Amino acid sequence: MASVVTFANKKGGSGKTSSVVNSGGVLGERGYKVLLVDLDPQAHLSFWSGVNTYNNYLSVYDALLGSCSGRDCLHKAEHGLYDVLPAATNFSMGLLRQLLDGDKPEGKLAKVLMEFKNEYDYILIDTPPTVAVLTLNALVAATHVMIPILLNFLAIEGLAQLTQSIYRINAGFNPDVRMTGIIANQYDIRSNHSKRVLKEIYENFGDDMVAPRIRNDIKIAEAPEYREPINVFAPRSRGNMDFNLLADFIEEKTAITGGEV
Ligand SMILES: Nc1ncnc2c1ncn2[C@@H]1O[C@H](COP(=O)(O)OP(=O)(O)O)[C@@H](O)[C@H]1O
Ligand SMILES: [Mg+2]
Repeated sequence: MASVVTFANKKGGSGKTSSVVNSGGVLGERGYKVLLVDLDPQAHLSFWSGVNTYNNYLSVYDALLGSCSGRDCLHKAEHGLYDVLPAATNFSMGLLRQLLDGDKPEGKLAKVLMEFKNEYDYILIDTPPTVAVLTLNALVAATHVMIPILLNFLAIEGLAQLTQSIYRINAGFNPDVRMTGIIANQYDIRSNHSKRVLKEIYENFGDDMVAPRIRNDIKIAEAPEYREPINVFAPRSRGNMDFNLLADFIEEKTAITGGEV
């Protein structure tokens, strides 16, 4: 049974897409069967995974609306480390309205993923900074939630909001989903401000909730151009080292709390 890990944070640029692609690459390299789900209409994860996002193709939005099955829109990345349910840049107000008008709009993704749960070990979901109902779908479908953040004080405020959302989802839709780890991204060891924010996170959330940090590495920013995750694009990079530690954390957390039914 797959562990479904949603990467969420309303703040754009916090490292959601990079974390999903690069942890997915490392977990795939370790022999797990990995599916990435792109819910962000910017479709950066899809582009990074080799989907020609300027073309017309079936996307995860078609599957959410029931006009195709998940399998119909499944894309296989060329390097073979993961498969992708791609987003599309043509997500529109019309599609959003259609989604919201349907029965149980928050549960559509969970339904789409049912057919994949026995086929994959990890399903990693990338979420958009906007379109709340898409992120809600990702949280309702999840067993675990990882939160990438940049270490500044507003990030702590964002964390508090997300914690509240997860409690509401526990009460209303999915009692099992848990906040699993906070990822300090683009961590700068020389910054006193970062250190103070990190200390506050440790104090508020406990050591267990703090995932290995990801340092700033230009290779992480360059990898999308080559349509490869960091472990393929730059195996000897600092970024690959950091994402291997993050993959260890994900393995450990998903083995303990399961996600298994
Ligand atoms: N650790 C890192 N080192 C260097 N650049 C990074 C790192 N993490 C993210 N970036 C860059 O920062 C930008 C935002 O990251 P991204 O993963 O797209 O965030 P989000 O999906 O939350 O908007 C991207 O251009 C990405 O390449
Ligand atoms: Mg993104």
